[in-house]
Amino acid sequence: MKWKTKITEMLGCKYPIILGAFARHDDTELAAAVSKAGGFGILTASYFKSEDDFRDAILKIKNITNNPFGVNFTAPGKIELTHPFYRYLEILNEEGVKTIITAAGRIEAFGKESREYGMNWIHKVTTMKHALSGVKMGADAIILTGLEGGGLKNPKQNTFLINMVNANRLINIPFIASGGISDGKGFLASLILGAQAVHLCTAFLATKESPIDNNWKQNIIEADSFDPKMIKSVCHFESDRPKMSPISMAAGIINKIISAEDLVKNIINEAEEILKTIGIQGDEINFIS
Ligand SMILES: Cc1cc2nc3c(=O)[nH]c(=O)nc-3n(C[C@H](O)[C@H](O)[C@H](O)COP(=O)(O)O)c2cc1C
Repeated sequence: MKWKTKITEMLGCKYPIILGAFARHDDTELAAAVSKAGGFGILTASYFKSEDDFRDAILKIKNITNNPFGVNFTAPGKIELTHPFYRYLEILNEEGVKTIITAAGRIEAFGKESREYGMNWIHKVTTMKHALSGVKMGADAIILTGLEGGGLKNPKQNTFLINMVNANRLINIPFIASGGISDGKGFLASLILGAQAVHLCTAFLATKESPIDNNWKQNIIEADSFDPKMIKSVCHFESDRPKMSPISMAAGIINKIISAEDLVKNIINEAEEILKTIGIQGDEINFIS
């Protein structure tokens, strides 16, 4: 079945499944594997220490797959014109990479610069307030991460369902669901709720190609989503300050380390099975209204 959404059309990928960025690890191989499987691989720019290393990673992905992929730029604050990220943008342009995802920091000028190169600019946020400022800045799409998600968490974050309901009301550009998604049900629910793609990090962290160490992968597959400690750690806050969570509520659902390709396949197969049970079959499913 062909999965058609505004995001598959925009990014040129087969399935509306985007890899989440994760800091401090070389995600080159994983990004390539996700794109090769028909999803949309994302390389995390902040990992790279030099322009040469960054270009090498881009070339490595291009060697593995002809499918499109993108790069996440997580801003440490305001990005001045002298910041290496601006040079990385030129490298992406030279290498024909057409999509960037920005997150955190003051990123407006940088995002607009990517538009000058004709790139797709997706802005990733954790609150509706920041989603609306992403729309105002001129991003092409918004990734909205719910409270169930991992990474840098905002105490003002809302849950996946509330995000989807409010995004339909308030966001007039395509939005992408993120946070706690790991299977075909979460994927299909996101699309039915109006998202044009899903964005998964923790689920891909536990795959064979992921660069995190085995203990961490093991923690993900052994996590118990009914464990109060885990719920508290991912979803509750004792202070008003943002905090980092190395896993998300998706960790309670994944129970095996598989390849990124198998994860993408499992999600799509499960979603297509569900569609069949409700009488939806055919060569194409179109979520563009
Ligand atoms: C260990 C870890 C590191 C992360 N680092 C980044 C980062 O550097 N930049 C970013 O935009 N998001 C980062 N994230 C957030 C993910 O890309 C994604 O938005 C979030 O984890 C989605 O929830 P999920 O893990 O339930 O799929 C990180 C997440 C994790 C778990």
